[in-house]
Amino acid sequence: MKSLFGRDMLTLIDYSREEIEAILEVSRRMKRNPPRKALEGKSLALLFQKPSTRTRVSLEVAANQLGCHSIYLGWGDLQLGRGEPISDTARALSRYVDCIAARVHEHSILEELAEFSSIPVVNALSALCHPMQSLADLLTIFEKKGRFSGVKLAYVGDGNNVCNSLLVACAKVGIEIGVACPPGYEPDPRFIEAAEEASEESGASVLISHEPEEVVRGAHFVYTDVIVSMGYDAEREERLRAFLPKYRVTRELFEMASKDAYFMHDLPCHRGEEVAPEVVDGERSIIWDQAENRLHTAKAILYLLLRPPAKRRSR
Ligand code: CP
Ligand code: NVA
Repeated sequence: MKSLFGRDMLTLIDYSREEIEAILEVSRRMKRNPPRKALEGKSLALLFQKPSTRTRVSLEVAANQLGCHSIYLGWGDLQLGRGEPISDTARALSRYVDCIAARVHEHSILEELAEFSSIPVVNALSALCHPMQSLADLLTIFEKKGRFSGVKLAYVGDGNNVCNSLLVACAKVGIEIGVACPPGYEPDPRFIEAAEEASEESGASVLISHEPEEVVRGAHFVYTDVIVSMGYDAEREERLRAFLPKYRVTRELFEMASKDAYFMHDLPCHRGEEVAPEVVDGERSIIWDQAENRLHTAKAILYLLLRPPAKRRSR
């Protein structure tokens, strides 16, 4: 596999199965035995247009544990907030730091950052997708099952950023994924198409449905996310009407999954809204493992994107 040094990570569509598995392998290594100072002297800019707990903290701690300095930049603290173009911000930051991790509303902002910066740009969540979350989810799934093939995951809820990335991540590594969402809230067609294509190669399958029971039956993992994502607050009432009561993970729905099924959520969650409290806080819930794995996968991503490959010794 070619080194990932210098690559952007905007969506997992751009990453092959082999590359995703390499990131997971390095994540496992980092979890067992974190290397210290592997990125000493490097700097990371964290550019956030919306709030974050897990992504921000795991990235800052990951950078710190690798010896990389991180700088948190709230949108409003930069000249960006006063109208300086994204392209100029990207060019200026490229002269100071070695990587930009950005959380933005519109995915096109990430594309523009990547186009105008000379350093890797990592998607720390956009309205379109959340690749860092899916990598942590894959790590968590593998830890529970020891394999991807033959594993079935059901996602019930909004076909949003988390769902788009999960679709592609699962399909690439060979997990059978079923999504049940209300009509009109399907995942992005580009991600469905990429997942269908990837599943042909990996031997997995992709099902987009409007029937939660259809996707949950026999699933080894049942996943959901919020009904109202950041940036969609104006649609709250309309969304609650479209989603409830059918598209939520209740105990009854969860019991239709495989008897040893696990519950997953990227967090933050709304108990009683997209998931029943007894499921999210129940003994089959692995939400804190997912949250922890954000740290190990963040370390692997920074390490692989920022560390130049070792030079081959000439004979
Ligand atoms: N799951 C996730 O990305 O959480 P934060 O919004 O807290 O970063
Ligand atoms: N779909 C959620 C994910 C939060 C981590 C949102 O975009 O708000």
